[in-house]
Amino acid sequence: MGFDAVEIITIKRDRGELSTAHIDWVIDAYTRGEVADEQMSALAMAILLNGMNRREIADWTQAMIRSGERMDWSALDRPTADKHSTGGVGDKITLPLAPLVAACGAYVPQLSGRGLGHTGGTLDKLESISGWRASLSNDEMLGVIRTAGAVICAAGTGLAPADKKLYALRDVTGTVESIPLIASSIMSKKIAEGTGSLVLDVKVGSGAFMKNVDNARELARTMVALGTDAGVRTVALLTAMDRPLGRAVGNALEVEEAVEVLAGGGPSDVVDLTVRLAREMLEAAGLPGARDPEEALKDGSAMDAWRCMISAQGGDPDAVLPRAAEFMEITAPESGVLSRLDALGVGVAAWRLGAGRARKEDPVSFGAGITLHAKPGDAVRKGQPLMTLHADETARFERALQALEGAYEVTETADPGLLPLVIDRITA
Ligand code: URA
Repeated sequence: MGFDAVEIITIKRDRGELSTAHIDWVIDAYTRGEVADEQMSALAMAILLNGMNRREIADWTQAMIRSGERMDWSALDRPTADKHSTGGVGDKITLPLAPLVAACGAYVPQLSGRGLGHTGGTLDKLESISGWRASLSNDEMLGVIRTAGAVICAAGTGLAPADKKLYALRDVTGTVESIPLIASSIMSKKIAEGTGSLVLDVKVGSGAFMKNVDNARELARTMVALGTDAGVRTVALLTAMDRPLGRAVGNALEVEEAVEVLAGGGPSDVVDLTVRLAREMLEAAGLPGARDPEEALKDGSAMDAWRCMISAQGGDPDAVLPRAAEFMEITAPESGVLSRLDALGVGVAAWRLGAGRARKEDPVSFGAGITLHAKPGDAVRKGQPLMTLHADETARFERALQALEGAYEVTETADPGLLPLVIDRITA
């Protein structure tokens, strides 16, 4: 049935409910170019302001899935599990997690994205490894999974093309921050990817989309319901993003830290979250009695899976990672406790140093970023290095320093308001 875009925009503008037929038509017509960008942006704004109910969100998600292909892993002889993070600063968890879960017995088909704005992208991080290839055909993906147990690669253009178009439009029309639109965008891609189970890492805090726990919980509940209704066993953790995760922010710096974790070391927050998410993924995949992830980090089997996965995608796991040419140290202004280290400030600073991109066509600097020498709660002495900034040109330091103004604080006592690493767990 054909509709008129203006009629659909008007219903949502006036707080009405869109029918399944309205939603199917508008997503299909927009994908085909029949509904114009200005009409879709008006509709996105009406949705941002007036919301959608659960049935509308489910229909919107299904219509976006139907706009493209749906992947199928039924040829594989083990259950599949995937993880999606809503994005944060220093969030390199996918890198150790995918091979770790593979080493424990599940297959991990992980379709990832690039960074935009202050949050990094998994593909940009992995591309700092010489020779590594993000773009694989479906047959190549199957081959890597069969060889290594896990594959991390770019989502092909055929997966939820309606979302690709709509997400780019939301990015430039101030309509990203809508729970129904974020939930349907993420879940349409994850359901189309064909995973049997999914663990969502919904970040909360200044460096995340969701700045407070209540909004993050609503987003998590919406996504868990969408996944469950589509037959994907889905669970969500709400985790802290009021400070950066780990001690490295930036592409090659984060790969280095991920490899430390796979070697049995690494910062405790990265290790704890990786192990927790791995256990959730194994349980969601129906493998609760699988090998313990902590053991697989210690005995080298997760590292073996990583090396195999990187090699299978053309990368050299022994290659020396790129380093930025210039560095600058920031020291503690006085003695006390580092009580605050704001994730957003650190993320924006790393982005300005060259680790991120402003437009999706921009290149990233692999070596740029920030190494953190102290984390919130640590005692520090006046003059002690707090962080090192890395960039390819010294000219980048000034704007990065501006982003860090007011982003860290040394006080006499620790801040009791820091979020716990894992705040909540949401199930169907
Ligand atoms: N990530 C997505 O894929 N979509 C959104 O809308 C937000 C984050």
